[in-house]
Amino acid sequence: MAIDRIVDTSVHDEDSEEQRIEVTLRPQQFGEYIGQERLKKNLKLAIDAAKKRGEPIDHVLLYGPPGLGKTTMATVIANEMGTNIRVTAGPAIERAGDLASILTNLQDGDVLFIDEIHRLSRAIEEVLYAAMEDFKLDIVIGKGPAARSVRLDLPRFTVIGATTRTGSLAAPLRDRFGHIYRLEFYTPDEISQIITRAAGILDSKIDADAARLLATRARLTPRIANRLLKRVRDYADVHGNGTIDDGLTRRSLDMLEIDELGLDPADRQLLVSMIDHYGMNPVGLNTLAAMTGDEMTTIEDFYEPYLLQIGFIERTPRGRRATPKAYKHLGRTLNAE
Ligand SMILES: Nc1ncnc2c1ncn2[C@@H]1O[C@H](COP(=O)(O)OP(=O)(O)O)[C@@H](O)[C@H]1O
Ligand SMILES: [Mg+2]
Repeated sequence: MAIDRIVDTSVHDEDSEEQRIEVTLRPQQFGEYIGQERLKKNLKLAIDAAKKRGEPIDHVLLYGPPGLGKTTMATVIANEMGTNIRVTAGPAIERAGDLASILTNLQDGDVLFIDEIHRLSRAIEEVLYAAMEDFKLDIVIGKGPAARSVRLDLPRFTVIGATTRTGSLAAPLRDRFGHIYRLEFYTPDEISQIITRAAGILDSKIDADAARLLATRARLTPRIANRLLKRVRDYADVHGNGTIDDGLTRRSLDMLEIDELGLDPADRQLLVSMIDHYGMNPVGLNTLAAMTGDEMTTIEDFYEPYLLQIGFIERTPRGRRATPKAYKHLGRTLNAE
């Protein structure tokens, strides 16, 4: 992938300092998890009811753009249920045997978190949804004519699946989830609270104006908010006197070329190309990918959700199109057609 952007919503490197800090900043309980009120309300109710009955909660599917708190919510659910969480990801489960060994090692009540669940193969999806349905696993022992199928009992477990795209999930698998929730972009006010909380954990001082300013440029996304905070903190350590204020924040964001709406040079370049080459005509996803040198999935998962959210592009049946709002932001004039 051609991204190494501050505003990119993926985790840059699994073993990096960034990853360690993410873990430190990750809320552990509902009380620390800011925003997503509807999601929290529904899940709290489901958890309370399940605890009362002494059962695990029904399977949960969380979907939405990267960096909005899906993995975090999975951890919170397991903590609130008081159970273990076993973490895996779609691409890591290659063969039915991989899934079988994960499932047979679970204990009663465990949460199995499957990140990027849309990347499971169809064959694995089938084994999984059968196991989710009746907590049984059919495995074939031996080969050829001597092969026989045995049915194993599995513990009662809860799958929490996370995905950026529900559309790519097979319907039978999607139907096994009792709870399906979309994570929403945060409000600037919520992002500002997340920044203030994170600054406290990182032991840095940030004043309220600076937190608010940073919040308007963080693409309404907690992961980006935390990343920007760290960059501004570095800048303040070098150029400031210990407190992150408005002026320092503004200067460091300018240096990073992040504008008032949180767009970086790559976003602006994408929009400018759309406008200059296509005007108000729709552009196909593959053409956009060719223009930026990114994968189509990168455009869909990383650039697009926020640009759609702020109304800078719209999806039409024939492709994506820049809106008058984007023209205005980029100082381009809209020619009547
Ligand atoms: N609701 C929230 N409140 C506070 N911090 C959050 C919240 N959601 C996410 N974060 C922060 O953002 C980071 C990225 O969240 P994560 O759960 O990894 O996103 P996703 O799995 O959706 O890509 C976390 O490490 C956490 O510090
Ligand atoms: Mg995640």
